Amino acid sequence: MISEDELRALELLKNNTKIATLNGKTYRRTPPSEHYYLHQFFWDSCTHAMGLVYYDPQWAYEELASLLAAQWENGFIGHIIYSEDEKRYFPTKELWGTEKFSQKSFVSSGFIQPPLLAISLNHIDEVLHDKGEKTDGVDSLIAGVVRYHNYLKRFRDREDSGLLTIIHPWESGCDNSPRWDSVMESIDLKTIPQRIIDLVRTNRKDISASTELNRPRAEYYYRYLYLIDVYKQQQWDTDAILDITPFAVKDVQVSSIWAKANQSLAAIMKRRGRIKEADYFSSLAEQTNETIRKCWNEKAHSYANFDVSHGQKKPIYSDDFANFMPLYSHAASDKQVTALLTQLSDPQKYWTKYPVPSVSPKSPFFEITRYWRGPTWPIVNLFILEGLKGYTAHKQCQKLFKELVKKTADMIRTIGFYETYDPNTGLADTYKDTFSGMGYADFSWSAAIYLYLKNKYPEIVR
Ligand code: DGY
Repeated sequence: MISEDELRALELLKNNTKIATLNGKTYRRTPPSEHYYLHQFFWDSCTHAMGLVYYDPQWAYEELASLLAAQWENGFIGHIIYSEDEKRYFPTKELWGTEKFSQKSFVSSGFIQPPLLAISLNHIDEVLHDKGEKTDGVDSLIAGVVRYHNYLKRFRDREDSGLLTIIHPWESGCDNSPRWDSVMESIDLKTIPQRIIDLVRTNRKDISASTELNRPRAEYYYRYLYLIDVYKQQQWDTDAILDITPFAVKDVQVSSIWAKANQSLAAIMKRRGRIKEADYFSSLAEQTNETIRKCWNEKAHSYANFDVSHGQKKPIYSDDFANFMPLYSHAASDKQVTALLTQLSDPQKYWTKYPVPSVSPKSPFFEITRYWRGPTWPIVNLFILEGLKGYTAHKQCQKLFKELVKKTADMIRTIGFYETYDPNTGLADTYKDTFSGMGYADFSWSAAIYLYLKNKYPEIVR
């Protein structure tokens, strides 16, 4: 029996879905919110598939197949796959100059997003495998996922360090995190051409679709669009971009997801008896995990990300959720786990009424409404709870895992399907009169994560 809450979540996903066609094939794909994000977004769709597989495996496949249909010749997949003729989102597809790399109507952005693709595909494989159902759909997507991982390894880890390099805050998915402030501020606003400033001033749409209090400040938006313009001039040649960009960061959050994705791809291969390939992807994951462990700074109680622009290697520390990400790929050592749990379980820091705030309320950068600077995100909770679960011998991890599953599901069910949530009350006071929640409403991600938790942990989410 499907519950009322599940029906509401499924209904929302259905309402947000658009059909795209390529070479006579149709794809159902689900943009995050009809209030602003009207195109397909990479890490959102990967997560949607993880909730949808319990109800409609074919739809789950189509979400991922649509991403792969937009894959470039070199294996790259963009973070936005544009809906045709949709103009209500900025930047529009024309601004990227990527048409020539894209398949007909499947025009994408030039950025990656956290590489959840193999994680999602493995989850689908596991669910269907457990039910004894056919997994031909998974088989048909494996080659594209391998090409994607080959792109990431070749172009985003040229130093073979194990950590991936991102070239824009949007590539982390956590666009507005304080983690990027120092690198972003190294880009002098005076060097940004006036035409970019004017472009943003005239066309920015996110603040009218929501409220300014939620969104990145203008000085960051100018830099976001400036970087797109610089890369467009490099014809989206990743090597050329990495040689000149003022924004290049080896990021622990994205790299933890990269390690988890390689573990997932290894699991997919293993289930099919493709042992050599399984060993290869496991070894990539192990390399990343080893490097992440070494990024730990004992004094800062934090992992270092590195600003690697212009050949430098400058550590970046940030009191934000990213420090918990090494739990997700099981990179954190026992000693690191103990230090992380002290922070995570502290009600003044991360264990608020609705955990886990994206930035600690104790941090000088915490802002209750501005996205990625404080609000709680269900996707962050999913990473952390799955990470905690993996530390099976650690009693406190198991306790926090169960609590976080319950708190996340309760938060979404009670407050509704919003983009983000106030860590203290669920709703930010600022919105009392004008807005019913944080960020954009009717948010697909939150609905899909609710469905995922409900099905994966039925003994906790009742
Ligand atoms: C946005 O427009 O806010 C997107 O998150 C960019 O990736």
